[in-house]
Amino acid sequence: MGRVKTAGGKLIGSNIISMGTVDSTNTVAMGLGEGDAPHGTVVVADRQTQGRGRLGRSWVSPEGNIHMSILLRPPLAPSDVSLLTMTAAVGCARALRKITGLRVEIKWPNDLMLSGRKRGGILTETKSRGKMTLFAVVGIGINLNSGAGDFPSELWATATSLRVETGKEIPKNDLIAGILEEIGLWYGRLTRGEKEIILSEWRHLSSTLGRRVKVTSGTDSLEGVAEALDGAGRLIVRLSSGARKVISAGDVTMVR
Ligand code: BTN
Repeated sequence: MGRVKTAGGKLIGSNIISMGTVDSTNTVAMGLGEGDAPHGTVVVADRQTQGRGRLGRSWVSPEGNIHMSILLRPPLAPSDVSLLTMTAAVGCARALRKITGLRVEIKWPNDLMLSGRKRGGILTETKSRGKMTLFAVVGIGINLNSGAGDFPSELWATATSLRVETGKEIPKNDLIAGILEEIGLWYGRLTRGEKEIILSEWRHLSSTLGRRVKVTSGTDSLEGVAEALDGAGRLIVRLSSGARKVISAGDVTMVR
């Protein structure tokens, strides 16, 4: 791939490693985290053979899409790492909106959505010791230029790509640079303790809050109204009985 130009002097993205085919950029970045790679190192790959998604799923990673992982050494307790993923989702959604002009939204927890279909996702993996996060890897996958032929049909039914939605090729490196810049900005807020600003921007970009949803977690599922996001990024769902459930992991679908 060509060179990604990022705004000068920013820590996130000042060291970008571009690769052809890898198993998973998250695996590569986790390996770099074990060594002495600096905070903010980014691994970008054209293709992944074993891309990983949330909840143990695989992530289809054909050429043309964005597959990248950011290595961070954040001053956060492991219990606050979900905020890192929300920060990245805010950065991605804002950059996508800015660069494409499309109304990209976030579906809880961190799916990047366009016209009700998933166009990207984020997987954060960490290494911690006791109450210390040694490092975190924020992996971002965005369906940029892929078409129906690149995906198994059952996945394409709920997925989409920017090219399919806009009819235009989206310049990948501009988008990567824009995403890194936004994430750098919002990560700065996170480390300055401005958590409420991040959560409030997440709420503003959310397609989930206020909607009737079905939440599936393993074999369990429940239906209700997605009422709020709490300070730890958990979803509060009000059931028809009036009871409230606090959801920390699962898949959300809109009921209507
Ligand atoms: C999700 O399931 O929504 C999260 C998908 C995350 C995919 C990205 S692609 C780059 C990075 N490397 C991986 O193996 N996964 C993440």
